Amino acid sequence: MKVALVGCGAIGSVLARAMAEHRVEAELVSVFDLSREKAAGLASLFEKKPALASSLEEVLSSDAELVIEAASVRAARELLIPALRSGRDVLLLSVGALADVEFLRQVEGTAAEHRRKVHIPSGAIGALDALKSAREAELEEVRLVTTKPPSALEGAPYLAQRGISLAGLRERRVVFSGSALEAIAGFPANVNVAVAVSLAGVGVERTKVEIVADPHARRNVHEVFARGSFGELHLRVENLPSPGNPKTSHLAALSAIATLRRLSTPLQVGT
Ligand SMILES: NC(=O)c1ccc[n+]([C@@H]2O[C@H](COP(=O)([O-])OP(=O)(O)OC[C@H]3O[C@@H](n4cnc5c(N)ncnc54)[C@H](O)[C@@H]3O)[C@@H](O)[C@H]2O)c1
Repeated sequence: MKVALVGCGAIGSVLARAMAEHRVEAELVSVFDLSREKAAGLASLFEKKPALASSLEEVLSSDAELVIEAASVRAARELLIPALRSGRDVLLLSVGALADVEFLRQVEGTAAEHRRKVHIPSGAIGALDALKSAREAELEEVRLVTTKPPSALEGAPYLAQRGISLAGLRERRVVFSGSALEAIAGFPANVNVAVAVSLAGVGVERTKVEIVADPHARRNVHEVFARGSFGELHLRVENLPSPGNPKTSHLAALSAIATLRRLSTPLQVGT
């Protein structure tokens, strides 16, 4: 499978290494980053060098069958529709781009019209397979609880607008409780996980989100609670940061590799 990579940061680097070391069956033919230096650095890992693109348009004129987006929500919004229209599938990391329901519908419509697919890795969370199964019957409640050290939440628009400071916090405190839709606006750093859980389960309006600041937390912890006619589910993941970006969980980069592997292997495990 020929692939193009947009975004050569923490996730893009882990993915490129997996391809350069032939740990996944994918040939990188085009690579793009706003920082040409970063793109050139990743290209240099390959024996057969991918082309260094200077724009998204150039990426879309390559012979890649799949475009991997590992850049930003903005890049994802610019890339998705043109990539699908040009006959390419997309592996999307900045899933927050799909928080906008109108844009989500456009993406679904374009993908269906051009018979293309948008692959969304589980990222920093899990349990998406079970949520997808559970929603085939009654899925009554889905709740995402994210616990982070106060420093990781400081500056979130929701807290800034209310003049809430977490400096000197001694005990864990629930700083937000509401829908995923509200959480996405108030805590953009949490957007990818909230949108992924919503898409797999009951949507951004019905998914409940709690955000907890815990001065004793050393890791970002995500928990998913779900209840329905299937029974009950509780998933807890304690994420270690990615070596290249402390804001990104290592699991997110690994989930991108796993998705690429799924696309090139005959056995499809998981719903
Ligand atoms: N799905 C998940 O669970 C999950 C988890 C972590 C991160 N993410 C998302 O994945 C994306 C990448 O994360 P990361 O940790 O690798 O980020 P990063 O900041 O380490 O790297 C992003 C790279 O993309 C480049 N870039 C930014 N905008 C660009 C554009 N318009 N065109 C080309 N290049 C551009 C930057 O120069 C940078 O090198 C982010 O949007 C992040 O929010 C998703």
